[in-house]
Amino acid sequence: MQFTYRMPTKIVFGPGVLGQLGEICESLGDKPLIVTGRQSARKSGVLEQALAQLPMAVVYEGVEEDPGTEQCDEAAAFGRKAGCGIVVPIGGGSPMDAAKAIAGLMLNDGPCADYVGRDTFTKGALPIVAVPTTAGTGSEVTPYSVLVNERDGQKQTIGGENLFPRAALLDPLLTHTMPRSVTVNTGLDALSQAMEGVVSKKSTPKSDVLALEACRIIRRWLPAAAEDGNNAGARSQMLYAAMLSGCVIAQTATTLVHGMGYLFTTEYGVAHGMANALLLTPLFQHNAQYAPEKVAAVAEALGHPCEAAPGAARTAIGAAVHELLDTLSVSPAAADAGVDANRLTEFADGIAATPYRYRNQIGHIDAARIRELYEQAHQGALA
Ligand SMILES: [Fe+2]
Repeated sequence: MQFTYRMPTKIVFGPGVLGQLGEICESLGDKPLIVTGRQSARKSGVLEQALAQLPMAVVYEGVEEDPGTEQCDEAAAFGRKAGCGIVVPIGGGSPMDAAKAIAGLMLNDGPCADYVGRDTFTKGALPIVAVPTTAGTGSEVTPYSVLVNERDGQKQTIGGENLFPRAALLDPLLTHTMPRSVTVNTGLDALSQAMEGVVSKKSTPKSDVLALEACRIIRRWLPAAAEDGNNAGARSQMLYAAMLSGCVIAQTATTLVHGMGYLFTTEYGVAHGMANALLLTPLFQHNAQYAPEKVAAVAEALGHPCEAAPGAARTAIGAAVHELLDTLSVSPAAADAGVDANRLTEFADGIAATPYRYRNQIGHIDAARIRELYEQAHQGALA
């Protein structure tokens, strides 16, 4: 056994922990730059609660869903002008990912698009204290900022040790106001990340423990959170599972599910988590061929125990994913999410030409295989 596991983010979890925001920020830097989305943090009252504890803070509001590099440049210029010394994202994955790039750009000259890649902010980054209000991306505990690079319209990643938030305040009470669609979409992102972590070429024994536990929790509690947003137990469990999935991909990164799914988002506006969910069945039926014991473990965590053999794992994982999607009233067919079959060859060729999108993916991958996987997702079929 050989692995590295690093998680430098201090995790503070529980109902009401938002009340510790002022104290935690105080020790890390002066004049917080709060980074948030268009309206939900203000509407839900979370922004007001944060400002009451951070009277010196300035607010950059309006981070878009799937934010772009240019918006990060704009926010960093705003933060520099105000003389901010710490960045506090409040919201879902979009503000959290944007905040990491902004924290880097505060100490490194832009433009943001120049920093795509790993450990590119050589002059460091401002400290980040993340306050998630959705239960999905786990971005509060990862060193990744996924952004749309406006130079080519592609989703790309800025990653780096100095982008791990110093602290993550996980207060499940902040997630109660999430609408059902956001609950489902973000919950499915957490599921996808946990599942991908298990089969990633970079999986570790320790991250597998977290990932399989996240799968068990999501299967049990995501339908309940979707059913009743005020189910405090379900909200708490989902926020916990999403954080676990973040801890997983901080080690393992994601696989071809995320690598293929992003085109559903950039081309058809399919929510990130939903895009991944539509690819889980084809990719994990593919994975069953190459890592049947791992896929069987995921299937078991999702309530479908099976023998650790390729055929049995393929059947069980397909049934498990379809059952969960069905419970959530989600069609497994990408066609139903508006994806056009005529573009799948173009998508597959594009992905095949960018190997970093599948560098952690097991099994044989080429343009023809990617095309088959897209086809299967399009039809929502079982192999
Ligand atoms: Fe994700």
